[in-house]
Amino acid sequence: MARITSFLLLSLLCFLPLCLCHKGYGGKLFPGFYARSCPQAEEIVRSVVAKAVARETRMAASLLRLHFHDCFVQGCDGSLLLDSSGGIVSEKSSNPNSKSARGFEVVDQIKAQLEKECPGIVSCADVLTLAARDSTVISGGPSWVVPLGRRDSRSASLSGSNNNIPAPNNTFQTILSRFNRQGLDVTDLVALSGSHTIGFSRCTSFRQRLYNQNGDGRPDMTLEQSFAANLRQRCPRSGGDQILSKLDMVSAARFDNSYFRNLVQNMGLLNSDQVLFSSNDQSRELVKKYAEDQGEFFRQFAQSMIKMGNISPLTGSSGEIRKNCRKINS
Ligand code: HEM
Ligand SMILES: *[C@@H]1O[C@H](CO)[C@@H](O)[C@H](O)[C@H]1NC(C)=O
Repeated sequence: MARITSFLLLSLLCFLPLCLCHKGYGGKLFPGFYARSCPQAEEIVRSVVAKAVARETRMAASLLRLHFHDCFVQGCDGSLLLDSSGGIVSEKSSNPNSKSARGFEVVDQIKAQLEKECPGIVSCADVLTLAARDSTVISGGPSWVVPLGRRDSRSASLSGSNNNIPAPNNTFQTILSRFNRQGLDVTDLVALSGSHTIGFSRCTSFRQRLYNQNGDGRPDMTLEQSFAANLRQRCPRSGGDQILSKLDMVSAARFDNSYFRNLVQNMGLLNSDQVLFSSNDQSRELVKKYAEDQGEFFRQFAQSMIKMGNISPLTGSSGEIRKNCRKINS
């Protein structure tokens, strides 16, 4: 009798968390979240991303960045995707996003396809998470299994976007503390910065280090000189704010470890890239490790992307599943 009771008790203890988890309590995401409700969800996201990247290679980078800018503001809740209307002030107009965050039309296409096949099921926050993984894979980077079940916010935070997302001229310490605030450590910071192995930056985001790093009219002395001269050709002292340069001048379309090999040669584009090598021993060692071992970078990148994707998700009955990623359900 005692044996049966303890067996029952044990089974209950084992399965209780599973049941709760399936109801979405406890804030736990898991890969099979849409297995029954929308089994084709991942394939829909993948195929729309693939088409978009085939049209324009850079779109992979742009989509990857959207997930980051979403997760650092109120958690990964699709808040970034909301347009201004009613009480909502869009995060799209923040300093980090204005004139540089892009890919919103592709997110709309993915969401429209999902709404056609499984209406009201797949969140915009999960669309961003899956699109970030798919963009990485399509560009030649690692793959990973994506925990799912995020729900969408009914609010956005312009100030959160301005204050939480690091700026390219922040010091190493400021950048690290902004990552720490999200529960991410120095290893996550270095690995995730490896995203800058693809995509582009506007001149306005790195001009300061070309001409006037510290307000003394001199360039950033850690910058390799011929590389700096080259950049000054493309990015004038004034004007041309929107002119683009490759974040990884070796292979801007390829997700590989050349970003880290650039940093070791003092050829990082953004100040926030180069400080990972120049300002801190721990991060310098990580940069060197990833420069030497692409496999190690890929493993850590996948792990850190999952960690970033787990920042404060809305689950259970919190938030909603938006019908249109640009606006809250009425
Ligand atoms: C560590 C702090 C970071 C800073 C300061 C930073 C800053 C920037 C800046 C200034 C740009 C160029 C924007 C422009 O002027 O056009 C950029 C682009 C980009 N960032 Fe970051 N970033 C950081 C971390 C990350 C992370 C963690 C990810 C992804 C996980 C990421 C992904 C990207 C991508 C893919 C692009 C290229 C986007 C495109 O071509 O459309 N960045 N970042
Ligand atoms: C960083 O860049 C911003 C925007 O260009 C500028 O307003 C600010 O003064 C810069 N900060 C530092 C410390 O140079």
